[in-house]
Amino acid sequence: MKNSKIAINGFFGRMGQAIYELSLEQKFNVTLGVDKKDKLQSDLNLKLSDNLSEHPELFDVVIDFSLPEPCLNAVQECQMLNKPITIGTTGFNSEQKEILVEASKDIALLLAPNMSIGVNATLRSISELSKLLSKYEVSIEETHHKNKLDSPSGTALKIAEVIAKSRQSNLSDIKIESFREEGEVGIHKTVFKSPDDEIILYHNAYNRKIFAQGALDTSQWISNQSSGFYTYENYLEDIS
Ligand SMILES: NC(=O)c1ccc[n+]([C@@H]2O[C@H](COP(=O)([O-])OP(=O)(O)OC[C@H]3O[C@@H](n4cnc5c(N)ncnc54)[C@H](O)[C@@H]3O)[C@@H](O)[C@H]2O)c1
Repeated sequence: MKNSKIAINGFFGRMGQAIYELSLEQKFNVTLGVDKKDKLQSDLNLKLSDNLSEHPELFDVVIDFSLPEPCLNAVQECQMLNKPITIGTTGFNSEQKEILVEASKDIALLLAPNMSIGVNATLRSISELSKLLSKYEVSIEETHHKNKLDSPSGTALKIAEVIAKSRQSNLSDIKIESFREEGEVGIHKTVFKSPDDEIILYHNAYNRKIFAQGALDTSQWISNQSSGFYTYENYLEDIS
């Protein structure tokens, strides 16, 4: 199951490095690190490049944790090379998302604003509670490190999307508060509130390993899918 050779786009980022470290512990086969030219210096025993297309023979699948624009470039290269991709990057606008959906007609593409099994399992409970407690007011709080570029987080938007879908309500009616604190990997709090009680679903990521695990696992899974648009839920449904 761990046979697919992996290229990481955004290799020298926080997530790129977390994924690479975990891949060594668990014997996943990362064969190419892609990042901006000025970052390509290291003594790692691994091929580095600023261009995925330079070494198509080296990888079977791409993991992307970069930025929306570089990710779209990587997707375009995957289309040209006919390779699958699993994407953890967040902050896409609706036009950019549309490009991803369009690309998935040619290649297998998985998009997950949160790659942790914990958050994705919690989303199922959130969906259920949103329906059962349809009269409760719901709100979301997220806290991340100060270098995070997008706000609200992709995960908070995903939680809001799940609530809106379950309640058949408007996404923009759901209140999201964002906080930025030094060193915080990621906290998401979903609050269901009535005049008489309150339910809080709380997820706190202690480190980036949980996201790295999801990225590596979905990279192997997406390698075995036919072209199409997939989410972490599709992966979870398939393996459980
Ligand atoms: N889905 C998840 O579970 C999850 C978890 C954590 C972070 N994220 C998201 O992943 C993304 C990356 O997060 P991070 O904390 O690692 O960010 P980061 O800033 O530490 O890393 C981004 C990397 O992308 C590289 N990059 C920029 N332009 C590039 C280009 N043209 N080609 C190749 N690489 C390029 C940067 O040089 C950097 O090394 C963000 O969008 C973040 O929100 C998602």
